[in-house]
Amino acid sequence: MSVYPDSMQESLKIVEETRQDRVGKSFRGMTVEEKENILRDWHPDYKLDQKRVLRIGLSKGELMPHEVADILEAHSVLKPGDIDLSEVTYDLDVLVIGAGGAGLSAALLALENGVDLEGILMAQKLRLGDANSKMSQGGIQAADGLDDSPTFHYLDIIGGGHYENKPELVEIIVKEGPEVIRWHEELGVMYDKNPDGTMQLAPGGGTSRKRMHSCKDYTGLEITRVLVDEFLNKEIPYVEFTSAVEFLMDERGQVAGAVLYDMDSDEYMVARAKSTLLTTGGFGRLHIQGFETTNHYGATGDGIAMAYHVGAKLRDLDSTQFHPTGAAYPEQIVGQLCTEKLRARGAQPLNKNSELFVYPLETRDVEASALIRECYGRDNGVITPSGMRGVWLDTPLIDVINGEGTIEREFAAMLRNFNKFGIDVRKEPMLVFPTLHYQNGGVEMNAHCETNIPGLFVAGEVAGGVHGKNRLMGNSQLDLYVFGRRAGRYAAERAKKTTIGRLTLNHLEQYEKLLMSAGIKTDRVAPILLPEYRGKRTLEHQLKLL
Ligand code: FUM
Repeated sequence: MSVYPDSMQESLKIVEETRQDRVGKSFRGMTVEEKENILRDWHPDYKLDQKRVLRIGLSKGELMPHEVADILEAHSVLKPGDIDLSEVTYDLDVLVIGAGGAGLSAALLALENGVDLEGILMAQKLRLGDANSKMSQGGIQAADGLDDSPTFHYLDIIGGGHYENKPELVEIIVKEGPEVIRWHEELGVMYDKNPDGTMQLAPGGGTSRKRMHSCKDYTGLEITRVLVDEFLNKEIPYVEFTSAVEFLMDERGQVAGAVLYDMDSDEYMVARAKSTLLTTGGFGRLHIQGFETTNHYGATGDGIAMAYHVGAKLRDLDSTQFHPTGAAYPEQIVGQLCTEKLRARGAQPLNKNSELFVYPLETRDVEASALIRECYGRDNGVITPSGMRGVWLDTPLIDVINGEGTIEREFAAMLRNFNKFGIDVRKEPMLVFPTLHYQNGGVEMNAHCETNIPGLFVAGEVAGGVHGKNRLMGNSQLDLYVFGRRAGRYAAERAKKTTIGRLTLNHLEQYEKLLMSAGIKTDRVAPILLPEYRGKRTLEHQLKLL
């Protein structure tokens, strides 16, 4: 008995009736010109009225979404007089801010590179491991297949990123990918294997080879499980529900730790550090253009706001990733991730007439644009009772193509998430629509994860440069561990040869002056730490913005 409402049943019936005939059918990939056209006409990044030019700081003059400009053109939550900087609670070699995949890897590598347990602290806004890293589903790319090489991986990343990536960072990520997989396995990550013991590899949107390593559709959860275990085994000190709210600087202009805010006791603390490592993730909870999101609750763009206050260089923040397939029904899970691996294993995106309207593994920006066009440009979407539009993702095809039991074996998370609402994705398709997924840009870093501000290191989603204007599936997971490990190593090395001068928050006064001289009058403060929700959003609301 189907739980889809009557209004969706007619379309659902056509999907079921045509399923067998669609086995083996594909859709040709788009030409370069078609891609350019569809992006220009339908991708949210190309809606210029949804962006504005930033008025202050190093990125002054750059276009970015209003929601991002809003947190950069805001007052600090702190006033310099609020805190007594002579009362130092933590005196550290390395402070790691953020406890997702990049932060955990960085802390482990800092320890391996000579920082001792008294000299390191991880500060985490929510709980240890609470981050987008843990929520990643489909896999992690690494060029270790027999027919693959870092060169193919490099070309895929650069092409996917519209040639706007920083080439030296791409070179590092592809060369160090296989080593990261070995590191994970040594620590205990259980990757999916073929009967002969080799890695099970799948394709992803825009990949020229099968190079996605997975742990069912719980890849991020499994890797995080292992890294958190290792972190706890090493007894690395950490504080939870404690946010960094501003960096500290010294009179020599280097970042020298951070002001931490205990969200339970409402108290501020001074954490002085020779190296400060920012791994706070992205801005998915800013709901750019009103879109729903796959992101965890803490993804409020704190890192870019704090980094901008000390004069760090940002890049590629004009570009946001919308994952093509967020759940569009039922209402309780709208916006949640329906992994790209479903399409990699044969699920087809279909419009209300059950027509396959796009090659299922275009790069994410192109695929998302095709779904938006189908729903709003061609009026071929299925409309839910709340007014959302979506297209079918015909998941039962996966078992038809690969054999019964495939979904149960490889998509445990998807099966469970939809089962809770009475939808068996082995028998019925999902309804999907693009959802905000990833911050493509961030704080610019070099190959050592250093920023333009001495003492400040970045890694993971908060960092910019690796993915250019569009990231491919599975490269965020890889980015976390390749650059998280590097950041930990280089931050440890720097700490051995650095001294810190007198602590200051003078940069906040400078920032106030910038706001004032640009004539910016606002009540906003940043970082915002937790999202502010103003009630129900539906895609009809989003459409007004599109
Ligand atoms: O579709 C997914 O499983 C998401 C993966 C990613 O963003 O890398």
